Amino acid sequence: TGYITIDNGFKNTGSTKSSITFLDGELGILRYRGYSIEDLAEKATFLEVSYLLIYGELPTEEQYKEFEYEIRTHTLVNEDMRKVFEGFPVNAHPMGVLSSLVSAMSAFYPDSYDSNAPADTEMHIIRMLAKLPTIATWSYKKSQGHPVNYPNNELDYCSNFLNMMFALPVEKYEVDPVVSKALNKLLILHADHEQNCSTSTVRLVGSSQANIYSSISAGIGALWGPLHGGANQEVIEMLEAIKADGGDTQKYINMAKDKSSGFRLFGFGHRVYKNFDPRARIIKKAADDVLSKLGVNDPVLEIAKTLEQAALEDEYFVSRKLYPNVDFYSGIIYRALGIPTNMFTVMFAIGRLPGWIAQWKEMRENKEPIGRPRQVYTGPTHRDFVSMTDR
Ligand code: CMC
Repeated sequence: TGYITIDNGFKNTGSTKSSITFLDGELGILRYRGYSIEDLAEKATFLEVSYLLIYGELPTEEQYKEFEYEIRTHTLVNEDMRKVFEGFPVNAHPMGVLSSLVSAMSAFYPDSYDSNAPADTEMHIIRMLAKLPTIATWSYKKSQGHPVNYPNNELDYCSNFLNMMFALPVEKYEVDPVVSKALNKLLILHADHEQNCSTSTVRLVGSSQANIYSSISAGIGALWGPLHGGANQEVIEMLEAIKADGGDTQKYINMAKDKSSGFRLFGFGHRVYKNFDPRARIIKKAADDVLSKLGVNDPVLEIAKTLEQAALEDEYFVSRKLYPNVDFYSGIIYRALGIPTNMFTVMFAIGRLPGWIAQWKEMRENKEPIGRPRQVYTGPTHRDFVSMTDR
């Protein structure tokens, strides 16, 4: 085994070449297909960015219309999937439900999974983008004891999602453009992030030529973890705990510094960014904008700012180059949009979907070999079997 190098956590191992996302962790630069995240978040729609990630170029007007039309006309989900969904308990975590239902899509839409049939692959891609928001809203509706809303294909992607989330059959509901614009921005900021844990999972599962639904369902499972996308839920819960504790941010800073506490400052630190996460910068500004436009006064925003400042001035965080990441302020915006805490990571999944798809597609098109890391064995050498009566 002398030839095998161990790199736990793949801190210094490249798994692939990729032309999708560029990230410079020292300089805090993030670009999708060469376009800066700042530009895209300000000027593009989420579907434009999805097209860019998946097909490599920004769409022309005609391409965009066709792409959007395809997605709009596939938003309905097979009605029998609802029966699968109805079997879940009311308090099931929406991430567990999402990952299960995406996996179930492989049973409901079993057309050829063969990557040599591009039309089929295309259809799977459209279906996933179209149906994920529909499925995601079911969990919320169930938690409220309300009937689910069917998609409304007159609406754009973000407004359709908001309508399915918040409209009730008994009263008029109109999507607030401030809310749909904010959602559009958040989804773009989450759309891809090169070989992170969930994306690597999608590529690894897909490398066995498993179908795209199974691959992405596995990615959703990886995203759920508190060290990855699940951090956005943890952040709000942490801020709430600080608030309940009388706003004592220093106590939490001290706890995060104390390794024996097992506590980490959620929304802080990143494997690649050793400087400000550019997404966090945009989101922090957006949080201020959105809350003031919506007239929301959320005391946890102040707590978040105090906590951030204290950490940025603390030797422990400075010396380890720990800065706020994408998850630090996003929950505060989601909350102002009316999205419940246990749905935050689901929002991340909806945003990350085009990235997962693009990375899965790239991996298949490049005909990458099956992912199969090696190990260094550390267990016992040969032992003779001992029968149960002699143990
Ligand atoms: N609070 C306290 N200490 C920290 C934190 C934190 N949030 N993050 C890292 N450290 C310390 C860590 O203990 C280690 O210290 P030492 O060198 O003394 O052993 C040092 O900083 C380096 O950390 P690491 O764990 O080796 O770094 P990593 O690259 O393996 O982990 C991370 C990256 C994001 C998992 C980690 O920073 C973390 O757990 N952060 C909190 C969870 C979080 O916010 N996750 C979201 C990540 S961003 C987007 C996403 O994926 O969703």
